[in-house]
Amino acid sequence: MGINAKTLKETQDLMLKKLKGLVPEVEIKAKSELVFEINELKREMNAVILGHNYMESALFHTVPDHVGDSLGLSRIAARAEGDIIVFCGVEFMAETAKILNPNKTVLLPATKAGCSLAESITGEDVRKLRAKYPGLPVVTYVNCSAEVKAETDICCTSSNAVDVVKSLNSEQIIFLPDEYLAKNVAIETGMTLTTESNDTLDKKADTKSQIIAWHGKCEVHEQFTVSDIVNIKKQYPNTLVVTHPESHPDVVAASDFSSGTSKMIDFVKKTEADHYLILTECSMGDNIIAENPEKDILRMCSIRCPHMNQITLEGVLHSLRHNEKEIFVDKDIQVRAKKSVDRMLEIG
Ligand code: 13P
Ligand code: SF4
Repeated sequence: MGINAKTLKETQDLMLKKLKGLVPEVEIKAKSELVFEINELKREMNAVILGHNYMESALFHTVPDHVGDSLGLSRIAARAEGDIIVFCGVEFMAETAKILNPNKTVLLPATKAGCSLAESITGEDVRKLRAKYPGLPVVTYVNCSAEVKAETDICCTSSNAVDVVKSLNSEQIIFLPDEYLAKNVAIETGMTLTTESNDTLDKKADTKSQIIAWHGKCEVHEQFTVSDIVNIKKQYPNTLVVTHPESHPDVVAASDFSSGTSKMIDFVKKTEADHYLILTECSMGDNIIAENPEKDILRMCSIRCPHMNQITLEGVLHSLRHNEKEIFVDKDIQVRAKKSVDRMLEIG
C-alpha cells in the first residue's frame, strides 16, 4: 500500500497516474512534496501509518502502509511492529489501536477528530443502563470512547455486528450507541427494538424488548434518505446502491447491499452493474473510483464527515515531526476495554 518512491519526481509521477481526473493536477503536484517528506520521515522514525477508507484520495493512496475499515485496522494495529502508529482516522480508532497495542506510541494527526456516535454516550450512561437492566449483555459499536468500551461485555463493528449479537445467544441484549445500526441488526436477527435516551433511563424497564438501543446517530449517515435512492433508480435503473448500516433502516432496505466500509468496497469490485451509488462519506466514493477506473460510480456525494476531514497530509507531517497528538488511555480502562475488543476479534 502507499507509494514506494525514491525521489520526489517518482512520487509525483505515481500520484498523477493514480489520481488524475480525481484530484486537480496542481493539487497533486503540491501534495507530492508532502507525501515524499512523510514517507521519508516514516522510514527514519520506524513508524507505521494506518489509513481508514474515508481518508481523502491524495492521502489514502500515498502514505498509509495499510488501509481498511475499523475492524481490519484494529487487527493490524494489534500486531503492528515499528515504534509509532500514526492513525489516519478518528479518535476512537486511534484509541482502539492504543488499547490493543499499549506499548506503542499512537499518534492522531489532528488536535480533534471526534465522532457524533462516540460523543452520544458516556461510561456513566452505560453503568445506569446496566443498573436498569441487570444481567443483560452489553454490546458496543467500536465508535465509542475507551471508557465506554471498558464498561461493556463485547465490542462490534458494522461488518461483524450481526455475528457478535448472534454469538451471545441471549434473548435480550443492550446494543450501544448507534440506534440505526441496532435497528438494522434487529431486523437481520429477527429481534425487536426499544430505544433508551438520557430521559428514559430512570423509567421502568421494558423487559419485552429484545434489543435495547441507545439514541446515538451518525451525523453523516442519518442524512441519507429513501428518496435519494428512488430518484437515482428512476434516472439510472441499472444502478446498484451500496449503503453503510449506520443509515436509517428504510434506506438500508431500499439499497442493494449494506455492510461495513471494506465490504462495501469488495461488493463494488466483485459485481457488475451499469452504475453504482455509494451512500457513505464522499472520500470513499473517490477512493473506489481510483481502484475501479472501468466502473461507473455516480459522483453524487455531498456529505463529508467533518471529523474524518480533520486528517490531512499537512497534519500527518506535523504529527511525525512533533510527535503529536499522542493518544493516552488510563491503564485500568485500557485493560478492561481490551477484553471487550479482544472478545470481538475472536469472533471475526
Ligand atoms: P467502518 O467500521 O465500516 O470502517 O466504519 C466506521 C465509520 O465510522 C463509519 O461511519
Ligand atoms: Fe462518526 Fe459518522 Fe464520521 Fe463515521 S462518518 S466517524 S460514524 S460521524
